[in-house]
Amino acid sequence: MSKQQVILSENLNESLKQTIEACPHDKLFVLADECTARLCLPLIQESDYLANAEYITIGATDTHKTLETLAHVWKELGDKGGTRHSLMLNVGGGMVTDLGGFAASTFKRGIAYINIPTTLLAMVDASVGGKTGINFNGLKNEVGVFSPARSVLIDTNFLRTLDYENVASGYAEMLKHGLISTTAHWAELLNFDLNHVDNPALQALVAQSVQIKENIVEQDPLEHGIRKALNLGHTVGHAFESLALEENRPHLHGYAVAWGMVCELYLSNLKTGFPTDKMRQTIRFIRDTYGTFAFDCKQYDRLYQFMTHDKKNTSGTINFTLLGEVGDIRINQTATRQEIDEMLDFYREAMG
Ligand code: GLY
Repeated sequence: MSKQQVILSENLNESLKQTIEACPHDKLFVLADECTARLCLPLIQESDYLANAEYITIGATDTHKTLETLAHVWKELGDKGGTRHSLMLNVGGGMVTDLGGFAASTFKRGIAYINIPTTLLAMVDASVGGKTGINFNGLKNEVGVFSPARSVLIDTNFLRTLDYENVASGYAEMLKHGLISTTAHWAELLNFDLNHVDNPALQALVAQSVQIKENIVEQDPLEHGIRKALNLGHTVGHAFESLALEENRPHLHGYAVAWGMVCELYLSNLKTGFPTDKMRQTIRFIRDTYGTFAFDCKQYDRLYQFMTHDKKNTSGTINFTLLGEVGDIRINQTATRQEIDEMLDFYREAMG
């Protein structure tokens, strides 16, 4: 899998010009959702390079990350004269970059694409690393391919358009990157004030976060080994996210991951010796920033079912990524049903 170029841009139009020039194409397509088309496209449309572009707009939010939306994008690409030599620009959050990346990677067996992430979650996670796809059959990201963008252009000025919840959601993935990297970076993240965001400081943290993800993806682009480090918090987090969706009380992805990290740090403490003081400090930050996800012991079976259906599992065994210390990553860990019940008991007591 070829390496993608990640550019932290100070001048988006200039970076876009250079990136588009480096990708020869016959036709340029710009994909955005209804919100990013309104709020974010005006920031790049001054560029001469977009003068002859064709625009494709899709519905916003994860509910539109569907086969129907994908078919609409394929049809628009075809109807508007797309060829194998066309180029697509995905402008939006993780939904747009995941679905747009999949549409581009499959149209005419694959055209080049560039991601311009506009949410913190997409900047530090979704748009980087080549995972593309859609939700299918009630399951998140069930169908997709590994196929990296040619380039990812990150401009943190887009973060000014985000509300607290969306900044906090992306920040959960940054906290995950802190936990899997160094104590210094983890501590820096715990000391950041999300209620009064200092933009240059956030920009510096985003740069470090993207670098951590890039280093891991470069070593293991197809997730056979060390890339599983990026799944910390996600085994339980996806179960929380699925339960919340089923009960019509959806939560942003990062919130579910943050709550999932509380559980998986407990397992790390129990099974791989993660230090209790660091677990407590991280949990305090998560409780203060994200509040809690409420459930009772009657929902343990359902949460367990969601964990057993996670696509990261092999032969029906739930696969966890745990830590022995900050930065000491232990992939392919398992837990018994009793340990999982104890973990959920711990979560309710610590976060309640
Ligand atoms: N979001 C986790 C990964 O890209 O592997």
